[in-house]
Amino acid sequence: MKKITSLIACTCFTISAFAQTVKPVYLDESQPIEKRVEDALTRMTLEEKVKMCHAQSKFSSYGVPRLGIPELWMSDGPHGIREEVLWDEWNGAHWTSDSCIAFPALTCLAATWDPQMAALYGKSIGEEARYRKKDVLLGPGVNIYRTPLNGRNFEYMGEDPFLSSRMVIPYIQGVQSNGVAACVKHFALNNQEIDRGHINVIIDDRALHEIYLPAFKAAVQEAGVWSIMGAYNQYKGQQCCHNQYLLNDILKQDWQFDGVVISDWGGVHNTEQAANFGLDLEMGTWTDGLSQGKANAYDNYYLADPLLKKIKKGEINIKVVDDKVRRLLKMIFRTVMNSQRPWGSFGTEEHALAGRTIAENGIVLLKNDKNILPINLNKIKKIVVVGENANKRMTLGGGSSSLKVKYEITPLDGLKKQIGNLAEIIYVKGYVSPLTEKRDPKPKIPVGYKEPNPEILLQEAINAAKDADIVLYFGGLNKNENQDSEGNDRKSYNLPYGQDRLISELAKVNKNIVVTIISGNAVAMPWIKEVPAIVEGWFGGTESGNAIASILTGKVNPSGKLPMTIAEKLEDYPSHALGEYPGDHVNVRYNEGIFIGYRWIDKQKKQTLFPFGHGLSYTTFDYGKIKISSKQMKNNDKITISIPIKNSGKIKGKETVQLYIGDEKCSFERPIKELKGFSKIELNPGEEKIVTFEITDEAFKFYDDKQKIWRTEPGKFKIYIGASSNDIRETSEITLL
Ligand code: NOJ
Repeated sequence: MKKITSLIACTCFTISAFAQTVKPVYLDESQPIEKRVEDALTRMTLEEKVKMCHAQSKFSSYGVPRLGIPELWMSDGPHGIREEVLWDEWNGAHWTSDSCIAFPALTCLAATWDPQMAALYGKSIGEEARYRKKDVLLGPGVNIYRTPLNGRNFEYMGEDPFLSSRMVIPYIQGVQSNGVAACVKHFALNNQEIDRGHINVIIDDRALHEIYLPAFKAAVQEAGVWSIMGAYNQYKGQQCCHNQYLLNDILKQDWQFDGVVISDWGGVHNTEQAANFGLDLEMGTWTDGLSQGKANAYDNYYLADPLLKKIKKGEINIKVVDDKVRRLLKMIFRTVMNSQRPWGSFGTEEHALAGRTIAENGIVLLKNDKNILPINLNKIKKIVVVGENANKRMTLGGGSSSLKVKYEITPLDGLKKQIGNLAEIIYVKGYVSPLTEKRDPKPKIPVGYKEPNPEILLQEAINAAKDADIVLYFGGLNKNENQDSEGNDRKSYNLPYGQDRLISELAKVNKNIVVTIISGNAVAMPWIKEVPAIVEGWFGGTESGNAIASILTGKVNPSGKLPMTIAEKLEDYPSHALGEYPGDHVNVRYNEGIFIGYRWIDKQKKQTLFPFGHGLSYTTFDYGKIKISSKQMKNNDKITISIPIKNSGKIKGKETVQLYIGDEKCSFERPIKELKGFSKIELNPGEEKIVTFEITDEAFKFYDDKQKIWRTEPGKFKIYIGASSNDIRETSEITLL
């Protein structure tokens, strides 16, 4: 018996030893990734290398079948996994197994001010991507909020580089823990949709480095993102998808990015530049990036046959292609050829719950006079719900982030489910967005359809609202063109479809009115003083309506804070104040420089409707005295700043404590204060916790555009701790020696 066992053992050993000797290095996962990359590269023909650098279908790129190197599959992003499309088309493939969970839009995630929420988001969406066999998730987006008219702000994380940097890192790490590459987008300066394909951004180096690049830098250097998407626009007269300054100098040289630069769909315009100026993978050429496309053009891509010809003629150096292929191979080994990656899961209750939790943590209670919220169900028996957005699916439309969802709970559904047995709920539309308005996907307009008369809708709403115990208004924007939607910007800061008038008229007949804005953008609120309560409900995804209902009914205590300023007028935003939006169709000048959002508001000493960082709770928090471990510091010292926070109300709640720092005197102009830390804590009634921030001289640095370095200048710095950028509770000082 013993003999037989040892014989078997011996045979196994021989087989595995044999297998080990024949396994090529690039297939051996125990080998260092760089070694595997070099091994694979030496086995590839020039044609195979060039093939890897461009698309083979709308959302996939070539592998090397001869070597067993698989193709790469990509998907939008950034709020859920897009439906399967036909091979060479944008149209859906009508699968029955691709209905996903939609997570809240990224503005809502940013409004949680909670990196743990970003980690949950990344892990969950990564699992969905993995289950659907996607190797690259086209997201998250971190373009800075420069104007509230930008149709894509809902896909980004607000106006502040520090907040978006801290939130993007866990999202990426969560996605990539599934062996799925995140693709942070759109690098860089894609801050408007008007003229997005060609507009050339003129910006000073300080604003570029201090405002528009930090979140990308954090994605690369702190999260280790495996891919990045070039933007559609131009910078320094070069398209961002092939841009010497952004891609070669900053991203690959200064930041040492070792991943893949993927073009935005249709963002490549030239073979030499695409070859030499930092692009690695060309996608979606001959399309508008959204809907139209030219069939079977893949061999004609700039990085396809034209590139091959130029290499053969000696006009382009093979080394640039080798560099691209090295990066692509590395990404393939990190994702689709990683045998250890988990299997993922899709459309699960767990993911729906994750989305709901994120939405509940991100919804912002903007105003709550006389504690009209949460709805007191002991007194309130008749609820009149008004507004199209109470009953509108928001996961569909808006461009590439549009999703085919397993289900979507609207606010009306959520309210009916949660309190339908405790109060009468009556729904009236009040207004509608015209069915004829441009949207994607196109609505089916029934034969003989007539748009409802707005005056009749308004009157119906007023009649219904008159004798309600409370009016819950749900309006805002939607995913139609010129609203919160890709490809174009909003036309006005005001609410569309006559909503401003409707809200005012409703407030006249019923003082108990709560306005919930569903949007990814700030909107004008000329009726702000006429209504006692306002909620920013964002686009909350699959579980949106449940999350909103939980907040309105008090099941969940609101804790979201604004990731952007809600100004009174459009002209209160710097790009509009200076007349530098949307540019002259050729150039757009960011003449406001570093003064974006609250940095501008502080400088101009302006009032806002609601400042950056603002958000109320159903409880109250008391801020104690600030303590600093040392009032003087040298570069590289670590200083702790702490402050006790007490829940002085009657219910459990969460508060985001914000740390801002201002340079008192500097040879460069600096904002009055900038966000440098935040911490979200949960407190029981009466409970107190000490919030501690640890800072180094990093928090005092600015970008010196003359020397092209980040540096500090010695002197006094003011420390501000507050509940928003405009609600500073404690201040102190530190001297940098
Ligand atoms: C264009 C969009 O700008 C980008 O974000 C998206 O990932 C691609 N289209 C692919 O749909």
